[in-house]
Amino acid sequence: MPHQELVEQATASVLEENKRQAAGEWRLDYHITAPAFWINDPNGFCYYNGEYHLFYQHHPYSVKWDNMHWGHIKSRDLTHWEDLPVALAPSEPYDKDGCFSGSAIEKDGRLYLFYTGNIWTGPDPDTDLKQSQCLAISDDGITFTKYEHNPVISEAPEGNIDPAHFRDPKVWEEDGMYYCILGSKSRENTGQALLYKSSDLLNWEYISIVAKGTGNMGYMWECPDLITVNGQDMIVMSPQGVRPEGDLYHNLHQAVYLPGKLEADKENFQFEQFKLLDYGFDYYAPQTTLDAEGRRLMVGWMAMWESPMPEEKEQWTGAMTLPRELWMEKGRLYSFPVQELEALRQKQVSYNNVHIHNALQLDGINGKTLELRLTIDAKRAGHFGLSFRGDDDGTEKTTWSYDVGQQKAVLDRSSAGEGPGGVRKAEVPLQDGLMDICLYIDNSSVEIFMQHGAASMTARIYPKFTSTAIMFFSDEPAELVKVEKWELKPSITTRL
Ligand code: FRU
Repeated sequence: MPHQELVEQATASVLEENKRQAAGEWRLDYHITAPAFWINDPNGFCYYNGEYHLFYQHHPYSVKWDNMHWGHIKSRDLTHWEDLPVALAPSEPYDKDGCFSGSAIEKDGRLYLFYTGNIWTGPDPDTDLKQSQCLAISDDGITFTKYEHNPVISEAPEGNIDPAHFRDPKVWEEDGMYYCILGSKSRENTGQALLYKSSDLLNWEYISIVAKGTGNMGYMWECPDLITVNGQDMIVMSPQGVRPEGDLYHNLHQAVYLPGKLEADKENFQFEQFKLLDYGFDYYAPQTTLDAEGRRLMVGWMAMWESPMPEEKEQWTGAMTLPRELWMEKGRLYSFPVQELEALRQKQVSYNNVHIHNALQLDGINGKTLELRLTIDAKRAGHFGLSFRGDDDGTEKTTWSYDVGQQKAVLDRSSAGEGPGGVRKAEVPLQDGLMDICLYIDNSSVEIFMQHGAASMTARIYPKFTSTAIMFFSDEPAELVKVEKWELKPSITTRL
């Protein structure tokens, strides 16, 4: 079937399912999901003709990962999003088993999508695959035509490179030249990234294995992105197979950044270590873009491979995090949801200088789709925090707490409701005895930003619809210097 018909069929499938669905209790109000069925990685995040476009890995026929398409949604303000028809469907011999992850770039008014064409060559999905890099072009940002000479990079280069795992092109322009970084692994199962260049986006020349892991840095690097934030070069990528170390790396796979330096000849990216981008449970495959104001923005998949996803029973699976702005401060990467989200605020409730000892609830501070900003003075407390999405008798709840002795934040979803439990920790110091935290709670998710974005923790949680209680606690007297809460309006309103 021709590509355009496959895309229309996929769009119709998602649309019909969306119409059939009752409004699910866990459906997110202000986070991107597909109108129905499965999504994973963000793809093609870009600013094009005055609008933000976000594409995503999508299976438009079921709630499980399967033959990958690219779904599509756009926004003028990174806050209110409007669905668009499915953009890419597997249709050609070179992408017949999936249009895998990739990126978007504008050239001469046209939008170019780079993606990985996937082919299964046998029964084992770890070894029996052929991947190549492909291109689709659009004049209107909605309908995409696959390039007639695809693939533009037909196979992995020679060298210590596993030829099977060769994917996720991220393309950018610099000084009149285009560059493409790709996810790869060595023949000894070490994650690495490959770099290419092109003068026209059509013909690509291999440069080098630009970065390669050592030690516990994973067996495969997925979705690499090479960016500069406030003068600091870094690779953002998602390594598979990093082993837990102390409180770190307890998710199946991680999303990290490697601060370093890309040499002028672009052959080598020097780095020493990597750091997590988020310390929660559900954060993977983030992608960044630059917008017209020069902001570096990042969106991640708010889920984790092989983690149970109870929203399946509502006929949708997976979501995107809020768009976060990135910046460097005192050698640390910060991330915080974009300011435009303030447009969703309504019904503010605030308090100042409230003392907490043991447990405390505040009138009007509760809910399931809200933004909550707190400044807490720890005073002499050794352990303080709050629980949210709690039920009446306190058996169901999700808890964020802070251990002053260890200088660690702890997110505990063991009693959060349905779905997987567990605890995650993040090291983040108090500042002058104060902890500033911001929580974005949606119907089945929470994103927590500490110390103005110095660390974040993201999780999917599946409480009862009626669990809306928020409770503050502290082992010794502490002070809520400031509490501000807003209900947040739904913003993903236009379903196709
Ligand atoms: C990352 C990833 C990518 C791949 C895509 C397939 O989550 O595994 O490497 O392109 O998902 O859906």
